[in-house]
Amino acid sequence: MLTNHAQNAPGKLHHLCLAIILKDTGEFIGWCSLDHLDTSKPDPALFYLLKANYWGQGLATEAARALLHYAFGPMNLTSLHGGAAPENIASKRVMEKIGMQYLGTDDEGGYSFSITREAYDTNTSEQLN
Ligand SMILES: CC(C)(COP(=O)(O)OP(=O)(O)OC[C@H]1O[C@@H](n2cnc3c(N)ncnc32)[C@H](O)[C@@H]1OP(=O)(O)O)[C@@H](O)C(=O)NCCC(=O)NCCS
Repeated sequence: MLTNHAQNAPGKLHHLCLAIILKDTGEFIGWCSLDHLDTSKPDPALFYLLKANYWGQGLATEAARALLHYAFGPMNLTSLHGGAAPENIASKRVMEKIGMQYLGTDDEGGYSFSITREAYDTNTSEQLN
């Protein structure tokens, strides 16, 4: 992970994997990621995963929002995509909540999402007003 991270630079995301740590206890409860190892894709993908006993508290949404902030802030990326398996309604819902645009289903019936920096900036300024 550190080797991958060393290849990241503003405007050029290779792979970033971050731990999700519960602030109250310091417990490691999951991870979230921006990934562009598959360079046939036009832009990096966003991923997240949490220990099951921490689901349903808004924590993945908090982590995903932080990833967007980092991606479109310090990393200066122009767009991201995300996907969820057909049965993974929670992941689909997280992408909706963070303001990603629903593109439809992919070849396997999974849900496809994307977001541009312009849309992120617009969403963020609307939330501030
Ligand atoms: C997907 C995952 C990260 C979500 O984590 P989480 O912390 O529970 O997510 P949040 O609490 O931030 O948000 C989940 C949302 O989905 C909703 N949801 C969950 N299960 C649902 C279901 N079966 N039907 C409808 N909505 C559902 C929740 O109500 C919540 O929406 P709300 O805030 O509008 O009520 C977690 O389920 C997970 O780790 N799954 C396994 C790994 C995985 O699938 N990762 C995604 C790959 S991109």
